Amino acid sequence: MADAPKPNAEEIAYWTEVGAPAWIRLQAALEREVAPLGERAMDALAPQPGERLIDVGCGCGHATLELARAVGPQGSVLGADISAPMLAVARDHAAAANLPNVRFIEADAQTFDFGGEQFDGIFSRFGVMFFEDAIAAFANLGRALKPRGRLAFVCWRTRDEVEWVTVPLQAAFRTIGTQPPTPSSTFSFAEPDHTRSVLSHAGFSDIAISPLDMRTGGGDLDEVMEIFRMGGVGSLVRKHPDKAEAAFAEIRKTLKDYETPDGVFLGAACWIVTARRP
Ligand SMILES: C[S@@+](CC[C@H](N)C(=O)[O-])C[C@H]1O[C@@H](n2cnc3c(N)ncnc32)[C@H](O)[C@@H]1O
Repeated sequence: MADAPKPNAEEIAYWTEVGAPAWIRLQAALEREVAPLGERAMDALAPQPGERLIDVGCGCGHATLELARAVGPQGSVLGADISAPMLAVARDHAAAANLPNVRFIEADAQTFDFGGEQFDGIFSRFGVMFFEDAIAAFANLGRALKPRGRLAFVCWRTRDEVEWVTVPLQAAFRTIGTQPPTPSSTFSFAEPDHTRSVLSHAGFSDIAISPLDMRTGGGDLDEVMEIFRMGGVGSLVRKHPDKAEAAFAEIRKTLKDYETPDGVFLGAACWIVTARRP
C-alpha cells in the first residue's frame, strides 16, 4: 500500500525551493516591510523575561531573535519552520548575534510534537496561513502551551485590502489583459469569522482579532521592484511570458505614485490575532 502523502507537501516544496531563495536574497528589504507589523504582534504577545516561546514559521529568524532578546537569558525561543535553507540562515543570524537562548528546528507546526504544556507563548509573523489542516495545526500548537498560555500572530486581511499586493497585481494584470487569479493560501485568515472558528475548534479561548493598518516600505523603486519580481506577483506575471516585461514596466510606472523622499510606501492591511489556551 502506498504511503499517505506527507501533510503540507506542496508548501514544504514551495518554501524550500521557491520561497527560500527569494526570502533569503531579499531579507533586508522584506524586513523593512514586515518588521513593523511583526512588532505589533510582539506587543500583543507581551513576552516576559524568563518565558519559553515558539516562533511558528520563523523563516530567516529575524523576529525569533527579537523574541529571544525580550525573554532574556533565563528564557528561550524555539523557531520552527519547514524551510531548511531559511533555517540555516536563521542559525547563522543567531550565532552572529550571540544569542544562545534561541534554537531553530525543521518542523511542520501542524504535526511536530513540541511536547505537552512546555511553552508560555506562541508567536507568528505571517507564518500560520499555510496549513493544509488549520484546526489540526492550532490544536497541535495549543497542546504545547501551558494552561492560560498565549498565542499572538499577524496575518493579512483580504487581498483587496492589501496595497502591497493589489497595487502591483492590478497594474500587471491591466497590461496582461486578464483578471488576476484567485488569492493564494497567504490570505487564508483574511476572514475573522473563519479565524475565530478555526481557533475555537482547535481549543483556544479569549480570541481577539484587531485590524492593523500601516503604510510600510522605505526601499527605493529598484528594491521594491525586486520584491515584486521575485515574490508571488512575479510568479503570476511570468505565467504570461510574452507580456511579462511589459507588466513589470507597468508596475514600476504605477509605483512612482507611491514614491516619497524616504522610499516607496504602500498600505499593509493586517489582523493582529490573540488567543489563550484555557
Ligand atoms: C511569509 S514567510 C514568513 C517568515 C518569517 N516569519 C518572517 O516574517 O520573516 C512564511 C514562513 O512560514 C513557513 N511555514 C509555512 N508552512 C509551515 C508549517 N506548516 N510549519 C512551519 N512553518 C511553516 C514558511 O517556510 C516560511 O518561512
